[in-house]
Amino acid sequence: AREAKLDLVTKHIKHFPDFPSKGILFRDICPILKDPGALTAVIDLFEEHVRQTHPQVELIVGLDARGFLFGPLLAQRLGVGFVLVRKKGKLPGPTVSVAYKLEYGEAAVEVQEDAVAPGEKVLLIDDLLATGGTMYAACELMKKQNAEVMGCMVVIELKELNGVEKLKPNTLFSLVQY
Ligand code: ADE
Repeated sequence: AREAKLDLVTKHIKHFPDFPSKGILFRDICPILKDPGALTAVIDLFEEHVRQTHPQVELIVGLDARGFLFGPLLAQRLGVGFVLVRKKGKLPGPTVSVAYKLEYGEAAVEVQEDAVAPGEKVLLIDDLLATGGTMYAACELMKKQNAEVMGCMVVIELKELNGVEKLKPNTLFSLVQY
């Protein structure tokens, strides 16, 4: 059943050469969202992983923007809450942020100060791991809030960019690898 679900998910990923710039092969998860069976398969596979590996999880933390598509569905399945990690400047009230380097310049991720409790066991989720820069910054943000990061999860892992190395000591679970 797991293999059939992974097949269904893989079939609903589209590939766009030279988007958004020449030489980039863009992996598009939009067809997954358009197909209720494929979306259910994604959430089933994440749920199975979490129940087997991180049954103590207390909170799902999703990354801006496509982590917001899968995170709340998974959190609801697990009966835990969902928290948004956003790009700087989007969240109201007191926030905490962590800056990280981009190819050109800097960016920052941010969370509401009261969104995560000290010691809370959290799992981070996004659609795709590339270089791992944003996911690593989100892990640092959770640690700044004294949360316990249990791991990171993505639908797609781009292995040639070696984001797993950047994430260490945080761990990664991915459904599909390219
Ligand atoms: N984000 C970074 N690299 C990407 C890729 N190849 N496809 C989709 N999203 C990405």
